Amino acid sequence: MNPWSEFWQQGHPTTFGEYFKEGYQGPIKNWFEKQFSVNQRSETLLELACGNGALIPMCLDLGLTTNYQGVDLAAVAIPQAVQARLNQTDSLQVTLMGETSIEALPFSDGSFSVACSVFGIEYSNIEKTIPEMSRVLTTSGVYLGVIHHIDSVVSQMSGRAVNEYNMSEVRDFLEQLQIIAHQAKVAGDLRVLSRNPKAEKARKKLNQYAEKYLSNTDLSTANASMFEFVTRGLQFFKILDQGPKVANRFIKRVYEETLATRERHMQMCSVAMPQDGIDRFVEILSKAGFGSADVSILSDDKTIIGWAVCAHKST
Ligand SMILES: C[S@@+](CC[C@H](N)C(=O)[O-])C[C@H]1O[C@@H](n2cnc3c(N)ncnc32)[C@H](O)[C@@H]1O
Repeated sequence: MNPWSEFWQQGHPTTFGEYFKEGYQGPIKNWFEKQFSVNQRSETLLELACGNGALIPMCLDLGLTTNYQGVDLAAVAIPQAVQARLNQTDSLQVTLMGETSIEALPFSDGSFSVACSVFGIEYSNIEKTIPEMSRVLTTSGVYLGVIHHIDSVVSQMSGRAVNEYNMSEVRDFLEQLQIIAHQAKVAGDLRVLSRNPKAEKARKKLNQYAEKYLSNTDLSTANASMFEFVTRGLQFFKILDQGPKVANRFIKRVYEETLATRERHMQMCSVAMPQDGIDRFVEILSKAGFGSADVSILSDDKTIIGWAVCAHKST
């Protein structure tokens, strides 16, 4: 499964899940707000690599009267809380298009006045996406984007997460769950499981993992990724009494979730741009007909959030 589809199906409004429950706030939202106040109020807004419609809450907050069109390669859907807000207004017309690559946009030339993207466009092949974006923008169209910066807090956290996963321990942990699920099936009665030597040996190994990863709660030194994995894995004991099918499905699901989370972190690291990456991005914008591009570093105090790019098509 696409690692992002797995994430969006959980109903998150943005990539940062619980952290931005109400959509983007703070510097990212403030930057867009400033751009919308100086640029046009956007009749037709295209969000590229939009996830579950990351900028819809912001459009609602800013009272943008617009047709919003989101496109993403993953299977995406408007989160319930966002849909509830949309149901209360007529000013924002929203369409989300999942499983669609932004390198080949299914829209006619000049369909949109603004193209936006937050941590999105850089995941695609920008050599193809930028000319496509230019094609579907009007002749006076604007691109507003926030792009992963190699020294940003997000890149640092993703790099740390990738290194934290110990995949051989992940597999060993899940093997112990499989042993317990199998022994429970053979015994046919969970009450006798503690007298089963194979199940007991597996349980002790799991306890060692719990001791290793759950006892350190110091955020600066704890292994947050393995903490999350072990916590999730131990929920197995809550569903064990539902039978072997449910137990084995749970184990498979936890493995897939872990692989997908690690893959997303790896992607976030690999698309983050250093200075020469953003220079190349601006060069491609220029070749695609964007006459001027204003690039700045978006930050919160001393913490880098990303590159902010505002580019106008030449008129
Ligand atoms: C970090 S997420 C950002 C999503 C959203 N913009 C947000 O801020 O929450 C990156 C997104 O890029 C999407 N993506 C990656 N490659 C893509 C492509 N070629 N075409 C369209 N979307 C793509 C992924 O599916 C994922 O949803």
